[in-house]
Amino acid sequence: MHFGSDNIVGASQPVLDAILAANSGAEPSYGADSVKKRVDKMFCDLFERDVQVFLVATGTGANALCVSAMTPPWGMCISNEESHINGEETGAPELYTGGAKLMTLKGDKGRLLPDVLDAYVRNLSPGFYQMPAKSISVSQLNECGIAYTPDEIAALSDVAKKYRLWMHMDGARFANALVHRKVTPAEMTWKSGVDILSFGATKNGALAAEAIVVFRPELAEAMEYRRKRAGQTISKGRLLSSQFIGYLENDHWLSNARHANAMAAELKAGLEKIPGIRLPWEVEGNEVFPVMPRKVFKALKDAGAVFYEWPTRSVAAADKPGADETMARLVTSFQTTADEVAQFVDVAAKAA
Ligand SMILES: Cc1ncc(COP(=O)(O)O)c(C=O)c1O
Repeated sequence: MHFGSDNIVGASQPVLDAILAANSGAEPSYGADSVKKRVDKMFCDLFERDVQVFLVATGTGANALCVSAMTPPWGMCISNEESHINGEETGAPELYTGGAKLMTLKGDKGRLLPDVLDAYVRNLSPGFYQMPAKSISVSQLNECGIAYTPDEIAALSDVAKKYRLWMHMDGARFANALVHRKVTPAEMTWKSGVDILSFGATKNGALAAEAIVVFRPELAEAMEYRRKRAGQTISKGRLLSSQFIGYLENDHWLSNARHANAMAAELKAGLEKIPGIRLPWEVEGNEVFPVMPRKVFKALKDAGAVFYEWPTRSVAAADKPGADETMARLVTSFQTTADEVAQFVDVAAKAA
């Protein structure tokens, strides 16, 4: 019963097969390999336009590089208060930008809200002693497991454009959001106003591979230099590029995400039937956040389930856990089995 995160499982077989297929012979290093050229073409096809693609090994690296391309050292990047770039990247965006400020705003279930963003930027002091807003970042899925709709992204982009802010999407769980919303990668990103994307793959089947996908050529200008300075330019580049061959070919990434989402939907369906367990947030991907009695939490842990207690600052006042309750985060992956889900629900039901 492993629901701790989606990176606790290994890489998927097609990804490993693609690495092995790219492994023999000699190829130019540092991303000049023939596999990367194939991957570039795959991304252009996927996004239905020319895009520039920079591969890196970690999501934090991708996000920090994106923020640094959008935000000068004297500027601000704005996100929701739950954002991974603010809370879980150990200051990497601030480091890579050379000192920019990350500003976080309250929102709704992890969403950055257009009116809140507009009011915040409008009321910033114009003086030189106030860092100006230069960019925004949204996570898709967001940190509360919610998938923005293209309309919601477009509404944020309208505000961003009004104040000349670049817009980044942290797509660590892009595939899960995409299959939930049933839209195209283009609709989810540049057609809704996203300028630069961290396209996650590691959590959904890759070994260690994320792609920075750039929709605005200005943001790609210095990316080669930034990536090398960040230590994210992999020398045996084809072993990184090839992961995307296995990941994208035959829509493997979408099948993986559909499976993970289906497992999360089963968890939700099972848990919400149990008296005393409730879900304050919708399940729109592969994350489930049940509020449960502490005794149920303990029984699940005692039965060997792996999952974590989760902060509740973005839970509405009426839904906050009571004194004898706690909220958990459960994450499913492309390897989660229906049996694991059934076992978890069974233990929870008996304990409740
Ligand atoms: C929303 C979000 N963004 C980015 C990341 C990528 O982080 P990492 O540097 O661990 O690959 C994660 C991983 O937990 C995440 O949840």
